[in-house]
Amino acid sequence: MSTAEHLIIRELLAREPNWLSGSALAAKLGVSRVAVWQHMEKLRSAGFTFEARRALGYKLTARPPGPHAALIETQLKIRPRGFSLVVLDETDSTNDEAARQLAAGRAAPFAIIARRQTKGRGRLGRVWHSEANGNLYVSVAFRPRVPPERMGAFTLWMGLNLCELLANFAKVTPGLKWPNDLLLVGRKAGGILTEARIDADQIRDLVFGLGLNINAPAGGWPADLAKRAVSLAEITGTPLDFNRLTAALLGRVLLAYENFADGSYTKTFADLWHRYDVLRGQPVALLEGGRRHAGTVLGIDDEGALLLRDVRGRTQRFRAGEVTIEKTS
Ligand code: BTN
Repeated sequence: MSTAEHLIIRELLAREPNWLSGSALAAKLGVSRVAVWQHMEKLRSAGFTFEARRALGYKLTARPPGPHAALIETQLKIRPRGFSLVVLDETDSTNDEAARQLAAGRAAPFAIIARRQTKGRGRLGRVWHSEANGNLYVSVAFRPRVPPERMGAFTLWMGLNLCELLANFAKVTPGLKWPNDLLLVGRKAGGILTEARIDADQIRDLVFGLGLNINAPAGGWPADLAKRAVSLAEITGTPLDFNRLTAALLGRVLLAYENFADGSYTKTFADLWHRYDVLRGQPVALLEGGRRHAGTVLGIDDEGALLLRDVRGRTQRFRAGEVTIEKTS
């Protein structure tokens, strides 16, 4: 999309719900009114709709329902120096695309968003269902240059920030299930996949991947997910403004990363953890490398490892694993 079209979108959003005159737009862009009209036609073919009135100008009446770079960029409130955003129609996995772009030397931080993924991945080698159905698939790439042992609580911190953002933005009640599941009404609304490449004793680069179910309609899930997955729209009862939410999420991710990198996250981590952790005190089974461990969740330690008390009263510590809450009769 051209810079002129970005500017048109920005001006129209700023004027909402009022009209923006064609001559004001032409003057702002330094082009003729005919050129403005040609840009508007291009925006129409990208999924925007406008009302146009001779005496009044233009008004935005509908936006593309899926990810759109100009809509996200114009609504992004935090923009670290050098930050860039790419929106793709399709890719294998946004995490893989981000890793390829990091390897090719692209300046970080940057974000890759795709409308659909052909090989979306979850933790433990699972498939992440990634059709173009109103859900978000995004990866944000960083070059943190910190020792790997400092990254222990990174995914948890990012998950807590996402919970807080969703609670404020969509007025829902999210929960974080260690280590990377975003839950709504006990079902999975999103998941995080953090991947790092390590050089000697430093993290060379880091990809933070998020899949978030935003507007997927009820009944639109494959049979194996129907009982386990949920979208925000299913909870709020109305579709959410995809690009406004995406811009808010990206802003929060970029800010949370800064807080993590400079260490200031420790001031609020515990508060957020108590607010959003769904496992504390729960009887659970944890699967790790084919072994099953049963116990009651005590909490996490400073490195983000999960602490379980087993039936003999011993505390066990887990850095990875898949947790299931056991039903009590
Ligand atoms: C999980 O819950 O296991 C993590 C799911 C992470 C899915 C996201 S979608 C965007 C990014 N690209 C991927 O291939 N995976 C992550």
